Amino acid sequence: PRRLPPPYRIKVVEPIPFLSAEERARALDDAGHNPFNLRADQITVDLLSDSGTGATSAAQEAAAAVGDESYAGARSWFRFRDEAADLTGYPHLLPVHQGRAGERILFTTLLKPGQICISNTHFDTTHANVELAGAEARDLPCPEALDLDSDFPFKGDIDLAGLERTLAGPDGPRVGLVLMTITNNGLGAQPVSMANLEAVASLCRRFGVPFFLDGARFAENAWLIRSREPGYADWTPRQIATRVFGLADGCVISLKKDGLSAIGGLIGLRDDDLFARCEANLIATEGFSTYGGLAGHDLERLAQGLREVVEPAYLAARAASTARLARMINEAGVDTVQPAGIHALYLNAGRLLPHLSPAEFPGHSLGCALYLEGGIRCAELGSLYLGTIDEQYRLVTPAPFELVRLAIPRRVYTEEHFAYVADTLGAIAKEPERVRGYRIVSTPPLLRHFKVRLAPL
Ligand code: F0G
Repeated sequence: PRRLPPPYRIKVVEPIPFLSAEERARALDDAGHNPFNLRADQITVDLLSDSGTGATSAAQEAAAAVGDESYAGARSWFRFRDEAADLTGYPHLLPVHQGRAGERILFTTLLKPGQICISNTHFDTTHANVELAGAEARDLPCPEALDLDSDFPFKGDIDLAGLERTLAGPDGPRVGLVLMTITNNGLGAQPVSMANLEAVASLCRRFGVPFFLDGARFAENAWLIRSREPGYADWTPRQIATRVFGLADGCVISLKKDGLSAIGGLIGLRDDDLFARCEANLIATEGFSTYGGLAGHDLERLAQGLREVVEPAYLAARAASTARLARMINEAGVDTVQPAGIHALYLNAGRLLPHLSPAEFPGHSLGCALYLEGGIRCAELGSLYLGTIDEQYRLVTPAPFELVRLAIPRRVYTEEHFAYVADTLGAIAKEPERVRGYRIVSTPPLLRHFKVRLAPL
């Protein structure tokens, strides 16, 4: 057969709610028209995030049952550490409860106020943690990334010429870190090529700047290198991932994604002194260095998750499933950022809703329409998230694109759920002019999109 099913079957299920259209309208109103404020029991298909939302395996739950909860030196820590060390090759590993805890510890230890952190694109909390450390977060995506329709295979690459110019230019001495996000979650789930990572590593060596990975989706990036980059078709995803980690001085990883677990994170380091300083910070703020805010049973699920996530059959099925969803959505009349990545699809709301100006937040409007029409939750990646607004909450500078992210939880939804999502989008795309815009009613100063409240226009 040409189309293989996923290499697992369902053993434990959880019911999902179906609300009436009136109930959904009331729920969204109560949530201040911000899907982040909805309750999970008001949602039919939840595509808000692929973080901590995956299904675990029977093997992970069996391992969790023998989790060792000793305060220090637990057996579960050594199982997790050995697995992560074998995968990444880093001599020093620190567990943290999730990715941003690792970012905070690394950035406050490594970056000095006034320094610059350069990335292909910082994820939102990563950006915030760089700024909380007093440094500047600067994004240098490759030019191909800015053409949403181009099918350039590695739109997650950093702009190498721009990076070299910055390192060699007047700002060069202030660059304290180069951080590559694999895959590039902020810009369309696009992968970073091995060639680009090698070039970044050599530039960083030449200019004496630390090079780290934000490896939240390291296995998916490895799969896309294997599928798209000449020379890697015979490598296993695990071999590719290990080679990628080997290029960098260290990593921060949110293991809520490719750790196949609900919680967890990791800092990987080579430098002894940096490790000692991060470890002191970890013990003071997260927990002792053999658990870092995680329970023994979490460490067990993670150790097993790191093995399962690089299985070729799992990655092949997940990549094919996302690509199929993209095709169904495109056929229903909605454009997505090309080519399809793995953990999420990004809808081009700006193109679907030309009657809405960026100041009316078309991405957010499409996200709300998906909830009102079908109980589907997703997140805006447009001017509501990235634009600048004034004191009266008016949009001053729009985002470059008005996108909506449909994040795909791992091993959770079936083809029928995805067909339902595509049908719902198709119904919206038949009469897009019916979708109304929004205005901001109140908003916090930092990380606006999480807590903002809006009203329909
Ligand atoms: N880096 C990337 C690339 C991420 O996507 C995330 C989280 C983090 C770091 C932070 O990790 O959540 O464990 O603290 N992304 C989630 C998402 C929340 O929905 O994309 P965390």
